[in-house]
Amino acid sequence: MDFPSAQRAVLQLLGTVTPAEIPALLQWMRSTRDFDEFTEDNSDVMLKNIADDLRNCLPLEAVLSSEHLALQKIQQQPEPTVHVDAFLYDEDFIDSLCEEGKMSRNYCTVCGSHQTAPLGFISHSFSLVELKFVYHHVLPDLSGKVLVDVGSRLGTVLYGGYLYSSAVQLYGVELNGDFCQLQEMIINKYQFSDRIKVLHADICTQSALLQNADVIIMNNVFEYFLNEADQARAWDYISHNVRKQGSLLVTVPSLEDALLDLQTNIQLSSWVEEVPLSYDAYPHKDIDREALEQIHLYKIL
Ligand SMILES: C[S@@+](CC[C@H](N)C(=O)[O-])C[C@H]1O[C@@H](n2cnc3c(N)ncnc32)[C@H](O)[C@@H]1O
Repeated sequence: MDFPSAQRAVLQLLGTVTPAEIPALLQWMRSTRDFDEFTEDNSDVMLKNIADDLRNCLPLEAVLSSEHLALQKIQQQPEPTVHVDAFLYDEDFIDSLCEEGKMSRNYCTVCGSHQTAPLGFISHSFSLVELKFVYHHVLPDLSGKVLVDVGSRLGTVLYGGYLYSSAVQLYGVELNGDFCQLQEMIINKYQFSDRIKVLHADICTQSALLQNADVIIMNNVFEYFLNEADQARAWDYISHNVRKQGSLLVTVPSLEDALLDLQTNIQLSSWVEEVPLSYDAYPHKDIDREALEQIHLYKIL
């Protein structure tokens, strides 16, 4: 049924409802979650369109030449590793790029022979499944809440928050000016500016934003982009300013892993309490469970 016919059918149906019941019906239509499956489908389509737009503006590896440290760090990995952005390229997309010879899942261990080993993949964005997991299964209802994505990069956490949550304001803070411009392009094109704002800044200059946020998202923010001393300083700054009691912190990887090799003054047990998560949200789907298990939720004490 096309849109005008569907609209007529809904109005016709409303015309048959007992007049005294109409206010209750309209109230139900405004507040029910029974329509979620239809609107979510639409949100998935929007996010896929956004991924199309971003792919057209970025090189295949979705890393910019201005990201010297990220490029250098990937060469220092113990096994050959490539950047593959999980928001831009899902598994099916990677398969089709491999078939076209534009990407490879393997590298040759003995040059010229058929002996191969799997390449390591590093993503600097959440995939669509990870975003849905965060907003539908990790975080509670965000009505009236302010969310900050530290290191917002392509803006995926912000667009996901706009479409999958009722957060009143979503702030992205990103060090790299080129990525800020890309986010602005998407925010304007999809008219997200009523709830999303992007700041081109170092998070270590944003104390007020961190102090007032209800939810803070930190997806592998510092490891590939700062040297160890700067990572330690940034984490100390975060732990000093993310202090609002009851606010929520989502991290990848766990705080223990992120801080393991860094010299910080952070006392985790007096700062946060980990909230256990169930990673069985999509038991029948062919999803990367290991990636979901990297997502951790903490409540600020
Ligand atoms: C792994 S990406 C996270 C992407 C995004 N939040 C997501 O989950 O899809 C980390 C981003 O953090 C940015 N970043 C690193 N250090 C930062 C800092 N001190 N302040 C703001 N952004 C920073 C990097 O430029 C990079 O784009």
